[in-house]
Amino acid sequence: MTDVSTTTGSPAPTESIPGPAWLGVGKLRTMAAHPPRFFTGLREEYGPVVRFPFGNSHGYLLSDPRVIQDVYIASDRKFGKDVLKIGKGNRAAPMAIILGRGLATSDGDFHRTQRRRIQPIFHRQRIAGYGATFASLAAEASAGWTDGQQMNVHEQMYEISLGMVAKTIFDVSLDADVAHTIRTAFPRRGGPLRWEQVVPFGRFVIKLPLRNNRRFRKGRKALNEIIYRMIEERRQGPGDGDDLLSVLLSVQDAETGEFMDDELVRDEAMTLLFAGHETSSGALTWAYHLLSKNPEAKKRMHAELDEVLGDRLPEVSDLPRLVWTDAVFSEALRLYPPVWVTVRRTLTEYTGAGYVLPPDSFVMISPWVVHHDPQWWPEPEAFAPQRWIASDGADPLGGHAVAPGRPRMAYLPFGAGPRQCIGNAFARMEAIMALATIGRHWDFEAVNDDPVDVVTHITVQPRRGVQMIARRRR
Ligand code: HEM
Repeated sequence: MTDVSTTTGSPAPTESIPGPAWLGVGKLRTMAAHPPRFFTGLREEYGPVVRFPFGNSHGYLLSDPRVIQDVYIASDRKFGKDVLKIGKGNRAAPMAIILGRGLATSDGDFHRTQRRRIQPIFHRQRIAGYGATFASLAAEASAGWTDGQQMNVHEQMYEISLGMVAKTIFDVSLDADVAHTIRTAFPRRGGPLRWEQVVPFGRFVIKLPLRNNRRFRKGRKALNEIIYRMIEERRQGPGDGDDLLSVLLSVQDAETGEFMDDELVRDEAMTLLFAGHETSSGALTWAYHLLSKNPEAKKRMHAELDEVLGDRLPEVSDLPRLVWTDAVFSEALRLYPPVWVTVRRTLTEYTGAGYVLPPDSFVMISPWVVHHDPQWWPEPEAFAPQRWIASDGADPLGGHAVAPGRPRMAYLPFGAGPRQCIGNAFARMEAIMALATIGRHWDFEAVNDDPVDVVTHITVQPRRGVQMIARRRR
């Protein structure tokens, strides 16, 4: 593989990177209506490295897996996530308004220390301990459904995912005030992760005396109070709790031996709470939407569940045998990656992909754009779980995603490198447990053939949810 960070010839100047000189009405309209489609269009028109107008400067869209690998992994220290600082200096990271200095919104040495502290909490063995909780929460949620009931599957998946993080982080149920506050204070899908938090003037917008803003601030205050109260209770208690909040309070830094203070524990708990349920509920909803449009894939998943589980709840030890269910989830994450874009700021001059990017540049890497690139994904729009299962070659799509020699970064729903999603194993297990538990007894049928509109509230969500009819299978 060529080294993309240091080119053999002289790197070309930034100005020679292809891209639109300005964005006309048509492009701006697509950008507003469907940002992932807009950036996919830029990649199709201009190639794997695109320079586009961004504010009074330029942004760069990188879609070549080798370059992405370099940015995410080898050259990670040349990039920060604090993109609101671009051009203006000392601003907080996007979303810090709600997430504080948690893992997703911190940078540099501070982030590295926090990541080192928190990583062990997401060790596979600990996550495996949550398997039974995931299955029983999904079973509990579906126990209330009736045959033929029409429902918004997104709302159902939202409740299930929220229940899973509430239980694992705070050891509380969906009746608890933390879940209630999230629902009432941030009722819009996309929750508190609003667009105002990713634009430079957002901090001012959020202070305006508008109803939504008042609700947002009230919700944030209420959540803070609840989390600080729970921290206090854990500190007073015996200190042997198994929920993530207790574990956050007990972890010491391996090098310094220091514990986290209450504010930092609050930031990390809030980060896990929001990073953990917005994403997963969207992913599960898209999986059901795709299955409803692909009866053969659905039939095969149900046959697998009948064979492996019959009537019983799934256990962690069943996961290696739920091959097709796992492939369904991988393919749903490919077509609708919940985190459709990741952003970086160049901290120094960066040479990659044969070009020089100046310091303080805005860099975008979009899982959506890469996952829809026909160079890596034949028939990119087709939902084909068989891509993920090694095959004898009879099916042209069979097994290609797991064939040797493919660039690793052609598939990046969880990012990669030091900023890779810390909850990826958690999310996968949660999703497979939910799909398997529900799929034993329930089938979802689409109410109609209407396309489901996408909205990007930071994560990719169905605009008005997805209406489906639940049919009891057995
Ligand atoms: C399908 C579900 C999920 C998807 C697709 C997803 C995707 C991602 C992606 C792409 C990133 C990297 C962002 C970047 O590079 O800028 C990320 C970061 C993160 N995710 Fe997830 N995520 C999911 C579920 C979860 C869950 C369940 C948790 C926690 C319980 C979680 C916690 C985090 C945290 C804390 C970070 C920041 C990590 C760091 O910067 O060190 N995510 N996620």
